[in-house]
Amino acid sequence: MKWTINGQVREAEVDFRTSLLDLLRERFQLSGTKKGCNQGACGACTVLLDGRRINACLTLAAQVQGREITTIEGLSDGEALHPVQVAFVEHDGFQCGYCTPGQICSAVGLAGELERGWPSAVTKDLKTTDVAFDREELRERMSGNLCRCGAYNGIVDAVSEALG
Ligand code: FES
Repeated sequence: MKWTINGQVREAEVDFRTSLLDLLRERFQLSGTKKGCNQGACGACTVLLDGRRINACLTLAAQVQGREITTIEGLSDGEALHPVQVAFVEHDGFQCGYCTPGQICSAVGLAGELERGWPSAVTKDLKTTDVAFDREELRERMSGNLCRCGAYNGIVDAVSEALG
């Protein structure tokens, strides 16, 4: 099977029961995508599928063969962090950091949804968005990503700035 992962075509033979999460972490050593609940409840495994945010633990690798997958490793441009990553650093949008890759991928997917309609596309220039929404709506739209440290204020600040 083949996938385009972070812009590179990758191939592997996998059992049809292999999740996308296990493919990324165990076959391709893309360990930035985290395994939390492994049942679709926490959002730690959020990645972008053709720019749309999904839970990699609930997605079979075989289901998405031939598609474009972006993980946290694919968001930065060399040494340059993605604007959402910069905003998380500036606003302390994390504590232990375990949920952070999923939070950031989710925010990037949300930006794409807001800017371009559905399905969304990955964008690296979030400042061009004309869409504004309040904090409560933002919290709702990010509610699929849990933070057990409770660093939500920083997370909402970061996403709000990145998408504002
Ligand atoms: Fe996928 Fe929790 S690990 S949603």
